[in-house]
Amino acid sequence: MTVHDREGIVLTGATPQSHDRYEHGCDLFLCYIGDPQAEADAAIAGSPGFAMAHVLKGWLNVLGTEPAGFVVARASHAQAASLVTTARERGHFAALGLLLDGQWHGAAQALQRVSIDHPRDLLALQVGHLLDFFTGEARLLRDRVARALPDWTEDRPGYHALLGMHSFGLEECGDYDRAERQGKRAIELQPRDGWAQHAVAHVLEMQCRHRDGLAWMLDDTDRWTRDSFSAVHSWWHAALFHLDLGEIDETLALFDGPIHGDKSTLILNLIDASALLWRLDLRGVDVGDRWQSVAHNWAALGEAGAGFYAFSDIHAVLALIRGGETDRLAATFDAMERAAAGPGDNATFTRDVGLPVSRAFKAFADGDFKRSTELLLRVLPDAYRFGGSHAQRDLLDLTLIEAAFRAGDTSLARALTAERRLAKPASPASEALFKRARALPAPA
Ligand SMILES: [Fe+2]
Repeated sequence: MTVHDREGIVLTGATPQSHDRYEHGCDLFLCYIGDPQAEADAAIAGSPGFAMAHVLKGWLNVLGTEPAGFVVARASHAQAASLVTTARERGHFAALGLLLDGQWHGAAQALQRVSIDHPRDLLALQVGHLLDFFTGEARLLRDRVARALPDWTEDRPGYHALLGMHSFGLEECGDYDRAERQGKRAIELQPRDGWAQHAVAHVLEMQCRHRDGLAWMLDDTDRWTRDSFSAVHSWWHAALFHLDLGEIDETLALFDGPIHGDKSTLILNLIDASALLWRLDLRGVDVGDRWQSVAHNWAALGEAGAGFYAFSDIHAVLALIRGGETDRLAATFDAMERAAAGPGDNATFTRDVGLPVSRAFKAFADGDFKRSTELLLRVLPDAYRFGGSHAQRDLLDLTLIEAAFRAGDTSLARALTAERRLAKPASPASEALFKRARALPAPA
């Protein structure tokens, strides 16, 4: 018996029962809640020959950028090898294989073709969207989804996820009004869509609507935090709203609570913890001993944890510097040097962005602010290449501005703060930086 998913796409090796578990797993993944891998495992247990259940398990294990997850995904990929039969399944299988081989862009492109041929394959769109995020492809964050939208109608299950993804892509392309509309419509359709919730937070961050942002995030936290595996990052966004308003106690409370209260060892969570503490550091806030456990958790990842994905590495470097993990810091730089000379797309991410940014952070911490500014000025135009969002990469701009002040480079501080004031006209923090620069004696 041939089983189809609810969009009519053939699922090789599935039974009606295992299909239900698979589809439920996909629905959980669309909202970033629950335990989609448990559903994939159940589908596999019921139908060991269910090709897409193995592929789903593979995808779920790579998208956290955890080296250990790649090990699991390799096994899933191997299991799927003799099971995939349709062009769509072979497309997923090839894309997963490319990613496991370090070909981030190749995997994203392979999924692009799957989505073009099967615009109602939500899994291909979602994984492709996440790969666009990890590779900094702002246009594709928007347009991979835009291409598929006419093949959907609002009454179809999962449509909310298209709107949420489209919202984030529009936001990264600077189309804030449409991004906000798409994201809020997604939440009306599916209040538990964590990605749409987060996309609107990005809009409000970029527009410096901090009070709106706090209202959006804090009015009904249960909706986007319950059983969510993306909640830490969304809490990080809430903390950014507080921080820009100068609400330091509230920012620290979120760090001590939902962001790092559980001392999470997951890389994506450690990125948020590190980024927030560094932003507090830059503002001169005494964060006490908060760096210690963050640095410890990065260090505990060991050899395999460094040189795997440059965007993670730069955050590890921050924590290892501030947490005094000097041996692990040196090992991380060594791992990045090896990665830059190695195969796969992370070589480019690391060589072009990760290493110069990490050296800039180290120079900053060593008090060599002039070198820090030189490195960051050179890398900023290309920084999108190692992935992340505008909001996350703002860390580089903020570091550069503070380095310019501390280097005594008044001209640079005045120029950068003027740029920032125009980019973020409603930001109290940006206004304060502008006034601080203008208060300095004008350069001769
Ligand atoms: Fe974000």
